Amino acid sequence: MWSNVRLITGLLPLLGLVTAQSNFQKQCSDVRAAVAGIPNVTVNIVDFVPGGTNVTFPDNDVTCAASQVVYGGDLCRITMNIATSASSGITLEAWLPVNWTGRFLSVGNGGLNGCISYADLAYAASFGFAAVGANNGHNGTSGKPFLNSPGVVEDFAYRSVHTGVVVGKQVTKLLYGRDHSYSYYLGCSTGGRQGFKSAQSFPNDFDGIVAGAPAFDFNNLNSWGGWQAVLAGFDNTSASFVSLPQWVSVQAEVIRQCDGLDGALDGIIEDPSMCFPKISSLICNATSNTSTCLSGAQATTVKNLFADSYGENGTLFYPRSQPGVEAQVSAIFRAGQMFVYPLEWYRYAIFNDPNWDPSTLTLEDIAYSEEIDLFGISTFDADLSSFNATGGKILHYHGQADPIISSLNSPRYYEKVAANMSLSPSELDEFYRFFRVSGMGHCGGGNGAWDIGNRYTGRPQAASTPEDNVLLAMVEWVEEGKAPESITGYGYGKLPTAGNVTTTRKHCKYPGRNVYVGPGPNTDPSAWKCI
Ligand SMILES: *[C@@H]1O[C@H](CO)[C@@H](O)[C@H](O)[C@H]1NC(C)=O
Ligand SMILES: *[C@@H]1O[C@H](CO)[C@@H](O)[C@H](O)[C@H]1NC(C)=O
Ligand SMILES: *[C@@H]1O[C@H](CO)[C@@H](O)[C@H](O)[C@H]1NC(C)=O
Ligand SMILES: *[C@@H]1O[C@H](CO)[C@@H](O)[C@H](O)[C@H]1NC(C)=O
Ligand SMILES: *[C@@H]1O[C@H](CO)[C@@H](O)[C@H](O)[C@H]1NC(C)=O
Ligand SMILES: *[C@@H]1O[C@H](CO)[C@@H](O)[C@H](O)[C@H]1NC(C)=O
Ligand SMILES: *[C@@H]1O[C@H](CO)[C@@H](O)[C@H](O)[C@H]1NC(C)=O
Ligand SMILES: *[C@@H]1O[C@H](CO)[C@@H](O)[C@H](O)[C@H]1NC(C)=O
Ligand SMILES: *[C@@H]1O[C@H](CO)[C@@H](O)[C@H](O)[C@H]1NC(C)=O
Ligand SMILES: *[C@@H]1O[C@H](CO)[C@@H](O)[C@H](O)[C@H]1NC(C)=O
Ligand SMILES: *[C@@H]1O[C@H](CO)[C@@H](O)[C@H](O)[C@H]1NC(C)=O
Repeated sequence: MWSNVRLITGLLPLLGLVTAQSNFQKQCSDVRAAVAGIPNVTVNIVDFVPGGTNVTFPDNDVTCAASQVVYGGDLCRITMNIATSASSGITLEAWLPVNWTGRFLSVGNGGLNGCISYADLAYAASFGFAAVGANNGHNGTSGKPFLNSPGVVEDFAYRSVHTGVVVGKQVTKLLYGRDHSYSYYLGCSTGGRQGFKSAQSFPNDFDGIVAGAPAFDFNNLNSWGGWQAVLAGFDNTSASFVSLPQWVSVQAEVIRQCDGLDGALDGIIEDPSMCFPKISSLICNATSNTSTCLSGAQATTVKNLFADSYGENGTLFYPRSQPGVEAQVSAIFRAGQMFVYPLEWYRYAIFNDPNWDPSTLTLEDIAYSEEIDLFGISTFDADLSSFNATGGKILHYHGQADPIISSLNSPRYYEKVAANMSLSPSELDEFYRFFRVSGMGHCGGGNGAWDIGNRYTGRPQAASTPEDNVLLAMVEWVEEGKAPESITGYGYGKLPTAGNVTTTRKHCKYPGRNVYVGPGPNTDPSAWKCI
């Protein structure tokens, strides 16, 4: 379908192309007044962007570090502010390509930001989607704007994406003069949570949702992140504190113990949920007493951090970090201070106290954050029947080497949906499919076959067909009823930005898991089987 569009465009005589361009340019500038007439909208920029332009974002908050985007085709770029209450509002961008396929798409955000995902907008527009993205109700990466500002928290919890979709669909219609045919969502991390929030609470917003590494169960996710700092200790000179070099040796031991569980010694653990490492072999003894072995007190710290987290009510509130990425996880969460997201969420949203001391975090605080569940931000509602009733589809993926959001929380949600709706995996398959992407870090990167087309990587491998691109797979599922059985990922070796494809793997649909069966090398997808 994509190639058809490209072919037709390519065959247009040059003169026709020029006329088409100037028509689109005029359409773009003419649409300003109509967009300004949408309730609560204040238009900022309406810009015809000729193909090849280096688009820059001088107004963007510097903490977002939005780099320029060089976009290939002609585009109408519209930016606007939209009031969401008397004391809150979002900034929305619409990237509307000349070679529109009739499809609408919203992108999401990340972390606690505050940053329009320009690269995702450009990526979606390059596939012919009319793409919108919002700033999630505040500017910049910090959670400080939440302080004593419930309207800003409410935008972050659900209202930014929904408002952007409602207005974005109107803007799309105003520019092209007709309704969109299908509506999609693409996001990862906080963006993954936003996708699930739409499925749970705004079932009519999208026909197809691609949601990765979701930050759902959001309160407990932050509590888990904060609790790791408590378990690790805030004094890195204490006898029980585990240093980063020690975590590196713990990780090597975990991989040594669990790498072979899937039948291949490739440094990648296909199914970390099967891995329950023992670290007694790392305890210092008389003959081996190095800076990387563990004292008894340190081994206890590691054991505590290997465990699932239980609340004051005795119930699990968040699963353990998946084994195999101990070094990265520890550098983020266990380095003698609380990671910035849980710290800022507790300071500026839960307690509204910029001086809150993270070392005072208790299980009582953890229960409280879930109890108040600001504006339903938890996003862990397992009843997806309204979304299914609209015919909507969800493609959920999670990297199995994700150091920021434990991938073990994703099957937990899947199982919760299955239980709530009383559906078996094959029944859930009708509208909700979950894929575990081994060797993928947080939304991308890693030493496995992580490139699944979920975002722009500048590489051609994952950008061409539904078999190797999750967004195109979703389009095919929604529009042709052909659902993905597996998703192909490409890996490029240890350096994420250099080199050619070194491994390709077909990642299994949950609850299936990948095992190496040979006879080819383990970098060959046909040497693996989903069981
Ligand atoms: C785009 O513009 C920015 C800012 O002027 C500049 O730093 C960058 O090198 C440009 N990129 C390209 C590909 O021209
Ligand atoms: C965010 O930045 C945009 C410019 O990019 C500005 O128009 C808007 O008012 C800012 N929003 C807030 C809440 O500061
Ligand atoms: C739209 O045109 C641009 C520039 O020629 C191209 O890069 C892109 O692939 C086209 N998209 C579609 C869906 O044809
Ligand atoms: C406009 O914003 C106000 C809050 O300022 C809100 O109550 C109202 O629903 C919004 N109108 C539309 C059409 O979205
Ligand atoms: C402890 O923290 C200080 C300050 O951040 C740092 O310089 C030092 O290297 C850390 N020591 C260990 C053992 O992690
Ligand atoms: C001492 O520890 C090392 C690894 O840290 C291990 O290989 C060795 O077997 C241990 N020796 C004894 C006597 O337990
Ligand atoms: C290892 O060495 C440290 C410092 O040299 C010492 O305090 C500790 O007792 C030794 N541990 C063992 C098990 O020998
Ligand atoms: C127990 O506490 C956790 C963490 O606050 C919460 O997520 C969970 O819903 C609670 N469970 C019950 C049964 O109250
Ligand atoms: C899901 O939607 C389909 C199509 O509307 C319907 O046939 C099916 O019964 C729904 N399943 C559930 C569990 O709601
Ligand atoms: C499913 O979830 C909904 C919404 O959270 C809840 O009201 C309902 O009781 C749940 N049903 C079951 C069977 O767990
Ligand atoms: C990638 O492959 C191409 C074609 O085989 C080759 O020319 C190029 O040097 C390779 N690049 C790297 C970084 O290995």
